[in-house]
Amino acid sequence: MSERTSRHSNEASTTPRSGGVDELRFPDHFLWGAATAAYQIEGAARDDGRGPSIWDTFSRTPGKVYQGHTGDVACDHYHRYADDVALMAELGLRAYRFSVAWPRIQPDGTGPANPRGLDFYDRLTDALLDRGIDPIVTLYHWDLPQALGDRGGWTNRDTAEHFATYATAVYARLGDRIDVWTTLNEPWCSAYLGYGNGVHAPGEQDPGAAFTAVHHLLLGHGLAARALRSAGARSVGITVNPADVRPADPESAADAAAVRLVDGLHNRIFLDPLLAGGYPDDVREHVARIIEPTFIRDGDEKLIAAPIDLLGINYYAPGYVAGRPDGAGNDAYPGTEGAVHFVPPTGPLTDMGWMIEPAGLTRLLERIATDYPGVPLLITENGGAFPDKPGADSPDGPTQVMDTDRIAYLDGHLRAAHEAISRGVDLRGYLVWSLLDNFEWAEGYRKRFGIVHVDYLTQRRTPKASARWYQEVISRNGL
Ligand code: NOJ
Repeated sequence: MSERTSRHSNEASTTPRSGGVDELRFPDHFLWGAATAAYQIEGAARDDGRGPSIWDTFSRTPGKVYQGHTGDVACDHYHRYADDVALMAELGLRAYRFSVAWPRIQPDGTGPANPRGLDFYDRLTDALLDRGIDPIVTLYHWDLPQALGDRGGWTNRDTAEHFATYATAVYARLGDRIDVWTTLNEPWCSAYLGYGNGVHAPGEQDPGAAFTAVHHLLLGHGLAARALRSAGARSVGITVNPADVRPADPESAADAAAVRLVDGLHNRIFLDPLLAGGYPDDVREHVARIIEPTFIRDGDEKLIAAPIDLLGINYYAPGYVAGRPDGAGNDAYPGTEGAVHFVPPTGPLTDMGWMIEPAGLTRLLERIATDYPGVPLLITENGGAFPDKPGADSPDGPTQVMDTDRIAYLDGHLRAAHEAISRGVDLRGYLVWSLLDNFEWAEGYRKRFGIVHVDYLTQRRTPKASARWYQEVISRNGL
């Protein structure tokens, strides 16, 4: 982590305040920021030599994305980055997590780096540093160059090797100014949604391919992490989206078995190889029932398990499961049919239909700190989609978006994060998802996660009430 975050004191404090609500202070140097991803905000899909990615192809395929939305223009951040950075500074952000679009750097996924693509991230990095905002890079947030997609994407072992070459090219340009490097964002989504149930690009539906992709993504992380380190990177990590998987009935042995199965396929299949030396036996056995894992070669697990400096955690909602022989399973988790019933979410939901349960974040952080001790954690994403109406979409642009539901969501999750710190979890920071409303993958632009409203017709940005609230949180370093 950067100098600033490594001088960390793990002291979260609570002070009684009149009115009955305690004042919570976060540790000194707690890193406050926001996150985005290239395909979701940049637009400029054909500028400066950018090649096509699997998301360009997927979003242009009828029926894949809500109303055929694409990332062609998105928030036009590619051209408006300077204003966006100024807005971040106005809000007091200390850190900004963005992703680099591989197809800007290597339009065909291999070969020499495209200097004009690198120039954009160079300018962005300098703009951030000029404003005292720490850049946090994600090297892969799902926009695989289409040319590599044509060769099997993450089911092809070569993609992992190419990823390390690409990482090296980005580091060579930005490594003198960027401290924190993360390899992949949510490999669970890339593998299971991309190759298992086909909800994300490239849209394949093949359980064996999903597991093959899991391994090659992890291998790509390992190879890229090794390359970044040997090039001199000081802080190397990865972002995952571990699930807080809960039993529908805490007393039921069948439900506990369902939790174990889903936990294996969602969490331990990634966290054990990254942080505990290799794949767990029960997960290996499950995978072997679907595909012979010849793609795991000698030495791979050692490479994947090389120590990392931080683990990025994206958390949104818990999941409840029950063990039932008639369970329909979930096509995102190959092989759970006839064993697991996924309980439909209840209670307050976000606009994505996701449960709102901040306690899940505390449980998850504590569980990771207990089961995989020694690695500092950073919340690389947390936030909520809410309808943000009325007024948000008026032709004149919004005058004010009173997103009190989002404020309540963020407040609850920050309290949950604070609780985890109080219980001893080494949590270094919090990055809200997202700075801007943006292209929410298969949901297109209809789901809004931003603390800043984007009018897609005019590209006008308007901070929502949550942005002003967050600004205040940052300035007080607490709630
Ligand atoms: C996780 C992903 O990393 C991000 O791209 C997405 O927009 C959010 N979750 C919300 O779904």
